Amino acid sequence: MTNNNMIFVANWKMHGNFNDISKVKTVLNLIKNKKYKKIKIIYCPPFTLLKSFSNYFNNTKLNIGAQNCYYKSDYGPYTGNVNAKLIKSAGAKYIILGHSENRNEGETDLLINQKIKSVLKEKLSIIFCIGETIDEKKKKITFQVLKRQISKGLKGIKNTNKIIIAYEPVWSIGSGIIPSRNELEKNIKNIKKILKQFKFKNSVKILYGGSVNSKNANEISKIDGIGGLLVGGASLNSKKFVDIIKKTSN
Ligand code: 13P
Repeated sequence: MTNNNMIFVANWKMHGNFNDISKVKTVLNLIKNKKYKKIKIIYCPPFTLLKSFSNYFNNTKLNIGAQNCYYKSDYGPYTGNVNAKLIKSAGAKYIILGHSENRNEGETDLLINQKIKSVLKEKLSIIFCIGETIDEKKKKITFQVLKRQISKGLKGIKNTNKIIIAYEPVWSIGSGIIPSRNELEKNIKNIKKILKQFKFKNSVKILYGGSVNSKNANEISKIDGIGGLLVGGASLNSKKFVDIIKKTSN
């Protein structure tokens, strides 16, 4: 399989300030090389940096996304919240939803489903995160968990053109541990099976996220069905992020 059209998402989580935007220059220099013509890079900084990033990225091939949004699609008296409309007006085209760090704070499948619908209303794209916890893995219920997250998260959604799935085993996030090749292959296959079962398009891209670094990126990206990487910690350092892209696009 060719990796030329991989998607690389940089999830900066709750990090970064205005001066960090210039770090992205290293990535901009890299993608000047024709070799990287087909890859897609999406930066997801905190809300406070979205507009600055979108100004900085103007006329470049870099894309911007947010890390979450409020579930209501209309403006209103919702103090402290940011919805898809506001995110769109800041120049972002993508929104990460269902991240385990937010599920862990109480986000339910139903709430994530409402958020997905509100984002689709604004015609933005979604990076929809799913993945099992260590307990669920030990109990051998990963398949059931993924099935529940997909069926409830995407309930009522007919068109998946704007949906990218990110498989992030919760136990792998920030731990330095990644699934074995067999385990990852099996889970990606199962995600495809579940998508098919619920009549979602087979063309939905699936990313992997969790402790991606320049040492493991190549191997992960070669796994059948993986269309990109969702990178947390390593994406904060442009050199590391560039190394991941280089190792993956051969
Ligand atoms: P790490 O790459 O830091 O493990 O984070 C993964 C992640 O949560 C990306 O959304």
